[in-house]
Amino acid sequence: MKVSIIGAGNVGALIGMRIAESDLCDVVLLDMIEGLPQGKALDLSTAAPIVGHHRKITGTNDYKEIVGSDVVVISAGLSRKPGMERKDLLKKNAHIIKDVVSKVTTHSPDSMILVVTNPLDVMTYLAYKLSGFKLQRVFGVAGVLDSARFSTLIAQELNVPVSQIEAVVLGGHDKTMVPLPRHSTVSGTPLTQLLSKEKIEELIAQTRETGAKIVSLLRTGSAYYGPSASAYSMIESIIKDKKEVIPTSAYLSGQYGLDDICIGVPARLGREGIEEIVELELNKEEREALNRSAETIKKSIKELMKEIKY
Ligand code: 2OP
Repeated sequence: MKVSIIGAGNVGALIGMRIAESDLCDVVLLDMIEGLPQGKALDLSTAAPIVGHHRKITGTNDYKEIVGSDVVVISAGLSRKPGMERKDLLKKNAHIIKDVVSKVTTHSPDSMILVVTNPLDVMTYLAYKLSGFKLQRVFGVAGVLDSARFSTLIAQELNVPVSQIEAVVLGGHDKTMVPLPRHSTVSGTPLTQLLSKEKIEELIAQTRETGAKIVSLLRTGSAYYGPSASAYSMIESIIKDKKEVIPTSAYLSGQYGLDDICIGVPARLGREGIEEIVELELNKEEREALNRSAETIKKSIKELMKEIKY
């Protein structure tokens, strides 16, 4: 098995590290900057005898190296700087994704594509449309990160281990994301029975702002430990065929009453990619929040298609 990662910045290189050091499979790190992927691959390879894994890590500027990949991760593109919203990256990253996808389809036509580049749901939609791959084989990393951030805040608030928390966040990877307290549990008890409405609203507001908070603290870019761990969990479920249900930005064709959009929903991930989209029962308020989130993404998709003259 082989995973190729396009874009050897912080997120890309850390995904590579997590894959190799978990002994999951071989990794190719590709970047257009000469020396960058080679340098990171060399550095990671020299950690192998210490960490004790046997995986090959290749750094390259040449797309020929991605031939035969099972999964291609797209983490190329710009990240946010303080004061920016994810959608401010739309135009520049759209052209980058367009270029990368054409090379991925040429050199690794049987792979799956996992998108990490922001604005996430819109870039995932673009990769799906341009690749011509089956909808089960193109998806994006988002909900798993937002759910993990929600879990972290719940754990701190209730002083319980994160392992006892199952938090669910649907919708876009932006301010319209839809955390679902009714479907989020602590040792099986719904969050709504453990915290007041006001407290839950406060945690949701903080979940929405975590990405921006990290950007404003780092000043030079956006988060990478959480995003790389999120991507890794999805890749692991695919490569090991674990079939875990993971919040995923997926192309919908009628599920949740939505069509022709990529948005965060729980999806079962295995060797075939998205093997099932799980439809949670939503109440009126939750459904309306999801629809509002979908409208925001649709607006950006329109802008995007104009930008790349699709
Ligand atoms: C985040 O939320 C970079 O979008 C990513 O941190």
